[in-house]
Amino acid sequence: MVNGERLFVFSGEFHYWRYPVPELWKDLLEKIKAAGFNAFSIYNSWAYHEATLGHLDFKSGAHNFTSIMTMAKDLGLYMIIRPGPYVNAESNAGGFPLWLTTGAYGELQTDDPKYTAAWKPYWQKVSELTKPHLITRGGNVILFQIENELGGQWKNITARIGNPPVQNYMQALEDAARDNGIDVPLTHNAPNMFGYSWSKDFSNATGNVDVIGLDSYPSCWSCNLSECTSTNGEYVAYQTADYVGYFGKQSPTQPNFMPEFQGGSYNPWGGPEGGCPNDIGADFANLFYRDLIYQRVTAISLYMAFGGTNWGWLAAPVVASSYDYSSPISENRAIGSKYYETKLLTLFTRTAKDLAKTERLGNGTSYSNNPAITVAELRNPDTNAAFYVSRHAHTPSGSKETFKLSVKTSEGALTIPRNGGAITINGHQSKILVTDFTFGNKTLLYSTAEVLTYAVIDGKETLVMWLPAGETGEFVVKGAKSGKQTPVDGQEIKSASVKFDAGKDSVTVSYTQNAGMTAVDLDDGTRVVLVDRSAAYKFWVPTLSNNPLAPENDTVLVQGPYLVRTAELNQNTKTLELTGDIDSNATAIYVFAPKAASSVSWNGKKLCTVAKNGNLIKAVLRKPTGFQLPSLGPWKSADSLPEISLDYDASSEAWVTANKTTTVSSFKPAANNPVLYVDEYGIHYGSHIYRATFATTSSPPTGVALNITGGMAFGYSVWLNEKYIGSYLGLSYAGTGITDFSFSNATLTTDGKDNVLVVVMDNSGHDQRAAAVNPRGIYNATLAGTSSYTFSSWKIAGTAGRESNIDPVRGPWNEGGLYAERIGAHLPGFPDSNWTALPSAAKTLSVPDAGIKVFRTVVPLHVPAGLDVSISFRLTAPETNSSSTFEPTAPGYSNRLRALLFVNGYQYGRFNPYIGSQIDFPVPPGVLDYDGDNTIAVTVWSQSAEGAEMKVEWNVDYVHATSYDMRFDAAALRPGWEEERLKYA
Ligand code: GAL
Repeated sequence: MVNGERLFVFSGEFHYWRYPVPELWKDLLEKIKAAGFNAFSIYNSWAYHEATLGHLDFKSGAHNFTSIMTMAKDLGLYMIIRPGPYVNAESNAGGFPLWLTTGAYGELQTDDPKYTAAWKPYWQKVSELTKPHLITRGGNVILFQIENELGGQWKNITARIGNPPVQNYMQALEDAARDNGIDVPLTHNAPNMFGYSWSKDFSNATGNVDVIGLDSYPSCWSCNLSECTSTNGEYVAYQTADYVGYFGKQSPTQPNFMPEFQGGSYNPWGGPEGGCPNDIGADFANLFYRDLIYQRVTAISLYMAFGGTNWGWLAAPVVASSYDYSSPISENRAIGSKYYETKLLTLFTRTAKDLAKTERLGNGTSYSNNPAITVAELRNPDTNAAFYVSRHAHTPSGSKETFKLSVKTSEGALTIPRNGGAITINGHQSKILVTDFTFGNKTLLYSTAEVLTYAVIDGKETLVMWLPAGETGEFVVKGAKSGKQTPVDGQEIKSASVKFDAGKDSVTVSYTQNAGMTAVDLDDGTRVVLVDRSAAYKFWVPTLSNNPLAPENDTVLVQGPYLVRTAELNQNTKTLELTGDIDSNATAIYVFAPKAASSVSWNGKKLCTVAKNGNLIKAVLRKPTGFQLPSLGPWKSADSLPEISLDYDASSEAWVTANKTTTVSSFKPAANNPVLYVDEYGIHYGSHIYRATFATTSSPPTGVALNITGGMAFGYSVWLNEKYIGSYLGLSYAGTGITDFSFSNATLTTDGKDNVLVVVMDNSGHDQRAAAVNPRGIYNATLAGTSSYTFSSWKIAGTAGRESNIDPVRGPWNEGGLYAERIGAHLPGFPDSNWTALPSAAKTLSVPDAGIKVFRTVVPLHVPAGLDVSISFRLTAPETNSSSTFEPTAPGYSNRLRALLFVNGYQYGRFNPYIGSQIDFPVPPGVLDYDGDNTIAVTVWSQSAEGAEMKVEWNVDYVHATSYDMRFDAAALRPGWEEERLKYA
């Protein structure tokens, strides 16, 4: 209940730190609002806000998340906030700052005082910033999640013997939140039904929260299905899970709350490109979200509503650059069938006030005359409205089934439909059919078509129902006696297929849904709009105020456009002002508006009404103009691996001497090795360059054995005395690479002078959960040969400024330690006048042998106002691996490379074609300058003596006409190069 009103919560998640352009957050939230969600949720990221120990940043660039809470209020969306401190989220170390991963903070996620002192400042600040935005203080934040999927609170669950370090930790987080003014209910999400919840209904143990939630990914959270078998069991498409039992046991007095329910799934390295939409598309949304209602869940948050991008090195090793997540809103801001299909249900749950209070009176196959169909009966005890959720009894089945349904109504028990025909479930589908459903002052006795929404316009009810085209529907409205079809713009159902049957105090309407939209007007003034699925997809219910409950007399109905964002009734001009987006087709727009609106405007322009019928107005919206990108280039290039030169002076501020001999980490380095774990030296992200020396006399060593951990998909390359001696190319599923390299290619000193070994490695991030403290870097480097030589010194170069976060706007994970990155060659304004120019038509970026080069070009963009042009980069190598077990044997493979794409200084793509398989990298406006010069930089690290080459192109994903100003001024997000950078050379 919010402020005394019951609410069915339908929310979706996004991560502002995966979308570092604050100017775009409103675009996203408008899309969430337009979809009919009444809430959204966020994770914060401790790592993002406290990259440097003791320096909290909630201000620069996208770090200021308070604007999101303000927008929640302005747009009318409730908000769930989930600050961690640990979040998981396929993020580097699960969202822990990387300085926390060295082992120096005791056992993480316990009451260890060292760990406690570490999380407190961040936690206090998040609480403090959230406080003014709580619902209790006039804001829209309704729930505050403590920790994420935390288990281990029981030593013995049956005997209820707790584990104090974990319980005390939860309690300390709760106490600290309360002390800092968080007075909304505290929640937690329990993982996949296997843990034991922190529910007060389950025990009165220390650390329990007010409302326990359950997260669930019945279709697997990764498109690498093998990752899911340990918790999900064998993968079966469209297999739903049993939540009723869980909630009945864990939280019978609390709302059945799913703080994370599958909204898609993530893309592992080597996984299919562009998300993994198989089995989690529109059908999944239709069936599974309705199944949650079948199981009487009353608060749902989809993970994710919008995934975003794993830009920079924010990701955990398992995921590639994309975090599209196959979500309703794509990484490139587009909406499609998954969004539209979800909207059919969110609009219904938002409008069906009776659904906010129900009891599940029964379920099973006896409700219908078809044993393949099961039905759950949910009934509102106050209004007697009921919801019959019907689906296949065996959910993996996609057969076409027809049936009649037994319902209990205010007019007694009925079997519906009564006038012939049947209810159809065709494919992986479900239907929620209502009885005694209140809409405005009217009652729908029953309907075999699904209710989409309703509004009360000028005191008259307009009810919208949808059915797949060709299916039959039947509904009864009480209080009316007759009706007639009112064709919408010539679209009507053949009169033979629509029948009005007057009852004592009601009218029964039976029909076969045709393609498109038509209307039925009843004699009591009620209008019923009948739409098929495609017309329903483009049906919108913008609200006239910012009340998240979207009261029925506060909305208008609009059909037609790709997206309708907002509606406002301008009383002075008597204009209904609509905003939204048009895709590549001209669109007819139909508006059901109050009489007070004598005209309609679209994105600020008055529309020419082409037809008017009572409160229905039709107009036509023009398609957007086209847009062409200039081509990329000409390119310039420079070497980015001076470190291998014997003359290179490794004494700039980039370098740290790795001379620690002891570590608190429980992972001790191999014997005779200093501590070479990068995090111990304040180096955390991207590539690291090791430079080791050893002097030799007679019988020099013959090779080196290296054992390096860098996370899945990582790799490394090795040089001795300027000569390339080999690479570990990496595998999507391996986090450690153990390789013996021979020195036969190189010449070693015999006069006691230093030999120089250079190892360039990248680091795909820290693992999640307890494994976050697994070190990154060299575990063992041992020289091989007849005499036993050891290294005399080790130095490491990493991210410029190391832990001091010298680019606070872009933040900590944007860059690694390649030479080009350290000197800032990826930044706008870097002086590249002495670089080598590639021929102006050159499109291929190549490195002739093993090595690293950096390429740059500056390209102007001028996107006209009023357009949303979605741009993505395509990176390709002659051979791009698409299989995760790929291991090339033939020489000459030109895909043995690791490339980083920088757009105006933002690392927006990691291209590892040998590992596979992401090639398309969407980049949002704000990172791109839509009205100015854009600096594109690409580092190409060839891991092969034969060299490597690749191509960079950019493409327009779509052009939409939009009300959203995509030419916003975000210059502050793109700070330029400064000379200071050169000290990291
Ligand atoms: C959940 C976790 C999320 C995310 C998700 C998979 O278990 O709470 O943070 O990792 O799995 O995408």
